[in-house]
Amino acid sequence: MKGIVLAGGLGTRLAPLTKITNKHLLPIFDRPMIYYPLQCLVNAGIRDILLVTGGPHAGDFLRLLGNGAEFGLRDFRYAYQEGEGGIADALRLARDFAAGEKIVVVLGDNIIEKDIRAGVANFFLQSSGARIFLKDVPDPQRFGVAELNGDRLVGIEEKPAEPKSSYAVTGIYMYDPQVFAFIDGLSPSARGELEITDVNNMYIERGEMEYEILDGWWTDAGTFESLYRATRLVHDGGANNVTTTGARGASV
Ligand code: DAU
Repeated sequence: MKGIVLAGGLGTRLAPLTKITNKHLLPIFDRPMIYYPLQCLVNAGIRDILLVTGGPHAGDFLRLLGNGAEFGLRDFRYAYQEGEGGIADALRLARDFAAGEKIVVVLGDNIIEKDIRAGVANFFLQSSGARIFLKDVPDPQRFGVAELNGDRLVGIEEKPAEPKSSYAVTGIYMYDPQVFAFIDGLSPSARGELEITDVNNMYIERGEMEYEILDGWWTDAGTFESLYRATRLVHDGGANNVTTTGARGASV
């Protein structure tokens, strides 16, 4: 299985910090933000990773991460997203890298306390379709929100004013190769982006979406409040054993 970290977009919600650097290079306590989603994939046993980024500071990722050897990566590549056409637009750039394999996608501003090994293993055994991680949160209206009928996931709404549950869709997604055909069929949303929520709803409509409940704390870091929260959580409790001393676990 291959991993994709999406670190495009302009991070305008963090201006003026993002005037002089990329959002995903900002510090979360003692490490750049991008270390956390990378380590999340490494801890799940993934050694082949594509980093999608964009904007005027994209070159700094190369300076920071080089060939990914510090993370124990086998194959580490970069792709450049022009503009900020949305999460699904960024993911589209991973088509050749995925080369028909299943993929695990992590948003560059998502940070978790524990690991996703069990969920990734479940997806490995899933013959086709997609799998996402949900998390019970106090502020679901900030996220994609799951609509559940009993235990069944029946739909996802992007940032609804009146959320149908308290389960946010976290920025960790697992897809089979159909995902790229689904992205090809998307139209831009009202905010002018190709929405990952639309992709996820396509899987749900076809009865091909499974989910996990994410263990441990989870946060994004794309606003001043959540950036501060992420720093506090990492400082107080650590996050998925971020370390640059090498990879842990067997590769998948
Ligand atoms: O954090 C989880 C949430 O992420 C989900 O619950 C939502 O369903 C999903 O739409 C997304 O919501 P946000 O509005 O918070 O996404 P944001 O625009 O902040 O982008 C999150 C990351 O995705 C960003 O750190 C890098 C990547 N991204 C985003 C855009 C818009 C790209 O790589 N390219 C892009 O064009």
